[in-house]
Amino acid sequence: MLFLLLPLLAALFPGGDRFEEPVSYHFLQTSAFHNHSWVHLSSGWLGELQIHRWNSSSDAIIYLYPWSRGNFSNRELVDLERFLRVNSIGIQGFHTDNFMSEDPFDLQVATGCELHSGKGFLGFKQVAIQGYDFLSYHNKTWLPSPKGGEEAQKVCKLLSQNQDYTQRMHRLLSDTCPRFTLGLLDAGKAHLQRQVKPEAWLSSGPSPGPGRLLLVCHVSGFYPKPVWVMWMRGEQEQLGTQRGDILPNADGTWYLQATLDVAAGEAAGLACRVKHSSLGGQDLLLHWGAPPSALGWILSAVIVALALLAGLGFWFRKRW
Ligand SMILES: *[C@@H]1O[C@H](CO)[C@@H](O)[C@H](O)[C@H]1NC(C)=O
Ligand SMILES: *[C@@H]1O[C@H](CO)[C@@H](O)[C@H](O)[C@H]1NC(C)=O
Ligand SMILES: *[C@@H]1O[C@H](CO)[C@@H](O)[C@H](O)[C@H]1NC(C)=O
Ligand SMILES: *[C@@H]1O[C@H](CO)[C@@H](O)[C@H](O)[C@H]1NC(C)=O
Repeated sequence: MLFLLLPLLAALFPGGDRFEEPVSYHFLQTSAFHNHSWVHLSSGWLGELQIHRWNSSSDAIIYLYPWSRGNFSNRELVDLERFLRVNSIGIQGFHTDNFMSEDPFDLQVATGCELHSGKGFLGFKQVAIQGYDFLSYHNKTWLPSPKGGEEAQKVCKLLSQNQDYTQRMHRLLSDTCPRFTLGLLDAGKAHLQRQVKPEAWLSSGPSPGPGRLLLVCHVSGFYPKPVWVMWMRGEQEQLGTQRGDILPNADGTWYLQATLDVAAGEAAGLACRVKHSSLGGQDLLLHWGAPPSALGWILSAVIVALALLAGLGFWFRKRW
């Protein structure tokens, strides 16, 4: 299933700083009722970076970065926590009332706001049940999803009648969320705008067939996410280059593989080229099967010499 939350649009941040990542904040809540017991998990995301978790033993937000409070006062944060807490109690009642305590039961809720160029922030709430879209909320309107059937229509009708709740949701998504997001972007500026250089290395992948080689160029540890990787022959881009998905490393940096399927005899002379904003125009260039560099030769010579000396020493000790 899942919600298509974050179309990769580059948005302009008022103030002139260009953010490559989408500007958005959303809170994810999953509630699972399996074997007669509930497990609730929640997390808060600025774009693709997780900055909040939920502590279910204390029912409080855990701030993953010193700047995860944005510019909100403790009072405003406590209000937010209360809202989230009441929401999760509501979920249990909602389940009992509408799903007659079906077991297993899985509920996923995404609530947040996203900056759209020209339109400002748009708030959204999306609910999925048993892995299917159930209903969504945009601009004070609750919309049942086709997959949600009569249940979803009934719930949307109830929610629309609850003017209080709809007003609160509207305020949360069209005022609180954008203010919080802008405050976060400002407070977390140093972290969000950092530049981390990629490392790159080459390997061969599983052979695609007899007489063929799969050249793999690994690029890892870079931030921010936009990166350009291409197999080259001289200045010629190899259009057969296949880019994998950009995957997250545990430390918040990114990883990418670019592969090229070539005849074994044609691999010599190929190179992998990497461009990234952190490299200041000095692209990384890795040659396939290149002879060891001068430093490599010197190191090998030193190691051989040391081995010979050690051998000689051993021989002398034995003799004398
Ligand atoms: C529920 O409990 C039963 C018995 O304790 C166990 O066999 C089963 O795997 C559990 N199911 C889930 C979804 O946790
Ligand atoms: C979660 O809350 C409990 C109870 O207040 C506390 O002891 C624990 O340290 C908290 N966990 C984190 C990761 O903050
Ligand atoms: C929200 O709804 C109102 C009226 O229902 C409409 O006038 C307005 O254009 C809508 N805003 C957006 C961003 O869709
Ligand atoms: C936080 O920053 C945002 C954006 O700069 C601003 O609109 C807001 O007034 C600030 N303070 C609070 C408490 O939201």
